[in-house]
Amino acid sequence: MCGIVGYVGSRPCKELLLHGLERLEYRGYDSAGICLMNGQVDIVRRVGKVSALREAVGTSAHPATMGLAHTRWATHGGVIESNAHPIEACEGSGVTVVHNGIIENYATLRRELSAAGHEYHSDTDSEVIAHLIEECYSGDLVEAVRAAYARLDGHFAFAAAHRESPGVLVAARRGCPLVVGVVEGEMFMASAIPAFLSQTRKVQYVHDDEIVVARPGGATFLSGDGAVIDRGVDEVDWDEEAAEKQGYETFMLKEIEEQPDAIAETIGERLYRGRLQLDGLQLSDQQIRDLSRVVFLACGTSYHAGLVGRYVLEEWARIPSESDIASEWRYRHAVIDERTLVIAVAQSGETIDTLAAMKEARARGAHVLAVTNVMGSQMTRECDSVLYTRAGLEIGVAATKTFTAQVTLMYLLALRLGLIRGTIDATRARALLEQVRGLPDLARRTLGRRHVVEPIADRYFRNEFFLYLGRNMGLPIALEGALKLKEISYIATDAYAAGEMKHGPIALLEEGTPVVVIATDSHVYEKVVSNLEEVRARGAHVIAVATEGNEAIRELAEHVLYLPRTEPELQAALAVLPLQQLAYAIATRRGLDVDKPRNLAKTVTVE
Ligand code: AGP
Repeated sequence: MCGIVGYVGSRPCKELLLHGLERLEYRGYDSAGICLMNGQVDIVRRVGKVSALREAVGTSAHPATMGLAHTRWATHGGVIESNAHPIEACEGSGVTVVHNGIIENYATLRRELSAAGHEYHSDTDSEVIAHLIEECYSGDLVEAVRAAYARLDGHFAFAAAHRESPGVLVAARRGCPLVVGVVEGEMFMASAIPAFLSQTRKVQYVHDDEIVVARPGGATFLSGDGAVIDRGVDEVDWDEEAAEKQGYETFMLKEIEEQPDAIAETIGERLYRGRLQLDGLQLSDQQIRDLSRVVFLACGTSYHAGLVGRYVLEEWARIPSESDIASEWRYRHAVIDERTLVIAVAQSGETIDTLAAMKEARARGAHVLAVTNVMGSQMTRECDSVLYTRAGLEIGVAATKTFTAQVTLMYLLALRLGLIRGTIDATRARALLEQVRGLPDLARRTLGRRHVVEPIADRYFRNEFFLYLGRNMGLPIALEGALKLKEISYIATDAYAAGEMKHGPIALLEEGTPVVVIATDSHVYEKVVSNLEEVRARGAHVIAVATEGNEAIRELAEHVLYLPRTEPELQAALAVLPLQQLAYAIATRRGLDVDKPRNLAKTVTVE
């Protein structure tokens, strides 16, 4: 949550910073601000999206070659201009900061600094950082930041500048992402790489509990006690083009359409000539055979991918598996041990609850496998093994292609573990792998039926409630379909195990209530049909997701969204596609900003 961008170099940086903010807007978009420094400090802040800030700063050139910028997702203090960043310490002090995360001891610090004469202009926790730096400053910004940093509790990343220290930006992180972009003679710092991807692919990752000092000639990394740390330069293979809409009306639509590629890339060389290899999984065959349990931990959409993982692991690898919400699991005294494999799933690799759950799991002796889409993210440094989904950059706040990539990885993982444990015979595994290889084409075909979704959206986009039902592998898809609709259209949705409907949710049904039912071919199909009949009997309208060739379902449903035939388990990766399209079509008919839904942020770095 919140995006930070900083630049120090020789070029006028106003446009570079604004562009960086636009790239980070998915992290929060309540308000935005920029600070340009060239002997004097010019700060502009605006409530609203970066476009409002852009309009406020105007198009005229500004000579500053150093600056900080910020896009906010409010935690402490309402969405008003005085709470937007960059934030200054006392008037005339010359200290400016941008901050992402939460300062947990801000109230104590605020009282202490107020007593020492500091005057506050905002209701944010962030402002104490600026005042603390001002308090600790005696001519050396690096030392002041180091001293201030030592007094802060919580999880955060912040960057600071001082009017009297031209050509120096100092930043620190504890628990929130921060990365440096390296160009000859200039340096960027940001919450995420897309902020400077148009300028460089060379990056240096800032680790937890480190302070980084950026000057035009390079960045110096320091530990909390001031020791210099050697940090290599990595090169990422993302390109700026991926961060553009490329002719699509929204990022979300582009990302929905990119799913065949996301699936294909995630399979990549892992499946070669019928052989399945998962480099990155640091468990010996014997350790895999000895596993007693698998626990998936994640949040939001990634939690739904974990649920799919649970079903396929049990089915193919015959390992007792469970899936839990990271923010719940971390406060349970869950029983795990050295024979437990914990699989933490997060597209961003930075979700605070998932990171905390991983730490907890490792402390209790489990092997922790991270599944993420972001190379070098915090998760990849706090795990025993890592497997990357390769969906490419996802900018729309609603996860789409990263979900199908995660589900694809779940298939590969379950098959690999099943083969090693001898719980799936080689012929069946070969057949399944063949079908997995065909998923990108099937996904393309499924997405090609968007014209079937559009009239359904026309008919129901004014409804204020949708129910989603599924059983077995259909349940996580029902949950994900419902989440997509509610987060981008603000329509209330409920998603239930179809068998549970009679235990409560059936009371919600009225004449014409739209009920989305995942009714793909599987061993629970007949059971789903019975539930579907119960829905119809109450006058609700069924929108069924079914397998091609199932003509009988037309008699039972008002609308049918067909999927190409494949193995029952693999239909999960396809069944979600028309539900994403439906959510998209409904939200756009309601005139909503699907890429930046209200109150949300793509990366959740606060509890
Ligand atoms: C997805 O559409 C959501 N915006 C959200 O639930 C998201 O999946 C969740 O915040 C988890 O993010 P992560 O995968 O980066 O951990």
